[in-house]
Amino acid sequence: MEYSEKVLDHFANPRNVGEISDADGVGTVGNPTCGDMTTVYIRVKDGRITDIKFKTFGCAAAIATASMTTELALGKTLDEALAIGRNDVADALDGLPPVKMHCSNLAADALHAAIEECMAK
Ligand code: FES
Repeated sequence: MEYSEKVLDHFANPRNVGEISDADGVGTVGNPTCGDMTTVYIRVKDGRITDIKFKTFGCAAAIATASMTTELALGKTLDEALAIGRNDVADALDGLPPVKMHCSNLAADALHAAIEECMAK
C-alpha cells in the first residue's frame, strides 16, 4: 500500500490538532469498519468557521484526512463546509489507497456533525 507525499506529510505533521474549549460545535464519529474515532471542534463567527481542531484515535489515513479536512474547512461558511465530502478530502491529499477510503469518512462526518450541532443551537 502506497501513500501520497501529502498523506505522509499530514500524518507526520498534522495541522490543527487539539480541542477548542467552549466550541460552537463538536462532532464525534466512530468508524464501524475499524472502531476508530475522530472528534472535530469548530468555532464560528458570522456564519464562518474561524477556528477548527481535531482529535483522532485512528490510523495514519485517519490522521491525515482529519488534518486535511480542517485545512479545507477553515475560513469556509457553514454551508460550504457541509459540502466537503470524503472524496474532496481524498482528492486534496492526492488520493488514498482504495482500502483506506473508509478512513476518510471519519473526519468529513465529524465535521458535518459539528456543523449540525452548531446550526441546531
Ligand atoms: Fe480505522 Fe483507518 S483503519 S480509520
